[in-house]
Amino acid sequence: MDFSALNRFAPVYPIHSAILNTILWAERDFVTIMRITPITRGRKPATDIAGAMAERIIGQPAAMQGIVPFIRMHQAGLGPEGRPAGVFLLLGPTGTGKTRTVEALAEVLHGTPRHLLRVDCGEFQMDHEVAKLIGAPPGYLGHRETHPILTQQRILAVTSERSPLSLLLFDEIEKAAPSMTRILLGILDKGTLRLGDNSNVNFERTLIFLTSNLGTRQMMKELNPSFGFPLGHSVPAADLSRKLEKIATNAVRRRFAPEFVNRIDTIITYQPLTTEALAEILEIELANLKRLVDSRLGPRAFSLDLARGARAFLLSRGASPEFGARELKRTIQRLIIQPVVELLADGKVPGGSVVRAEAAGDGLKLRVARRSHQLRPAC
Ligand SMILES: Nc1ncnc2c1ncn2[C@@H]1O[C@H](COP(=O)(O)OP(=O)(O)O)[C@@H](O)[C@H]1O
Ligand SMILES: [Mg+2]
Repeated sequence: MDFSALNRFAPVYPIHSAILNTILWAERDFVTIMRITPITRGRKPATDIAGAMAERIIGQPAAMQGIVPFIRMHQAGLGPEGRPAGVFLLLGPTGTGKTRTVEALAEVLHGTPRHLLRVDCGEFQMDHEVAKLIGAPPGYLGHRETHPILTQQRILAVTSERSPLSLLLFDEIEKAAPSMTRILLGILDKGTLRLGDNSNVNFERTLIFLTSNLGTRQMMKELNPSFGFPLGHSVPAADLSRKLEKIATNAVRRRFAPEFVNRIDTIITYQPLTTEALAEILEIELANLKRLVDSRLGPRAFSLDLARGARAFLLSRGASPEFGARELKRTIQRLIIQPVVELLADGKVPGGSVVRAEAAGDGLKLRVARRSHQLRPAC
């Protein structure tokens, strides 16, 4: 089959490698090639990506500034050769948006948070466990049974018609066994990986994210109220940000060899969330809840109305320097979702009604109305 026709399209429509592979394997004709055109239609310019990310990840501008330029470079066709499209190390306190950043990027680039390949390094704490990652070499016990995680097929499976970039997340790398760190070093260095069966995986169209909790304990000493951190602080002081950054990078340098650290393009330290950031995250969570209710309950859907006092109460209960937005999410679950679910189970929330939450004493009070002006106490 003559593929010269593809070259004519390449500068105008950068061809999605997954589809190109399909074409090569299937040896289809020109009809298949014509289907390449719509692939570029959904592609977002990098400026849109920055905006869409800022709507999802609150209060971490350094993260956006560190990541988006690499997407821009790739889209311009000027991504690095012979190495991954970008390597980022995300550090900082728990629940500040490190993992969420990669999920949000998958949403923005590919339309779903599931389009990312996630490796939980906690599952690779023993040296022999790397076989799960790259497969056992031929002749070794279990060669046929192991299905490596990092295959080219899997990397391509998390791309989409919108973008050929795949996202690979190594979560909590400080837990990885030394043999896994060596494998990672090879990937970061050459942008390729040789699997147990001798096939090669290419990462040139992959953004690699490493997250780590290194330095968290020491950061907590800086952040914990009993050590002088003002809970419900408004803006993290610039010197506090710098201190956290220093703690995190020092911890990384102590744990990883210089050649590993040197192959990381950008080290980003996530900042503790301010009260304003948590308030925005609360709105995002409420919007998510509304979407869930509308999509799951259909005609039984109700609307949720939170008074200003109820929002303030959730924020005061959900503010935690130790657990970040996780504590806020848990608080929403405990004080809003669970009580509403109980009302639903008791048949007290007819479809189309309004559940209004108000602060009352040391808690929240929920009232249900068929229409917004007919509120009656529910619990
Ligand atoms: N900066 C943020 N912007 C928006 N949501 C956030 C942010 N930080 C945390 N969250 C919320 O809290 C949850 C937990 O955050 P996560 O990213 O998993 O924390 P970690 O930094 O420990 O990886 C996320 O799923 C998200 O809903
Ligand atoms: Mg995480």
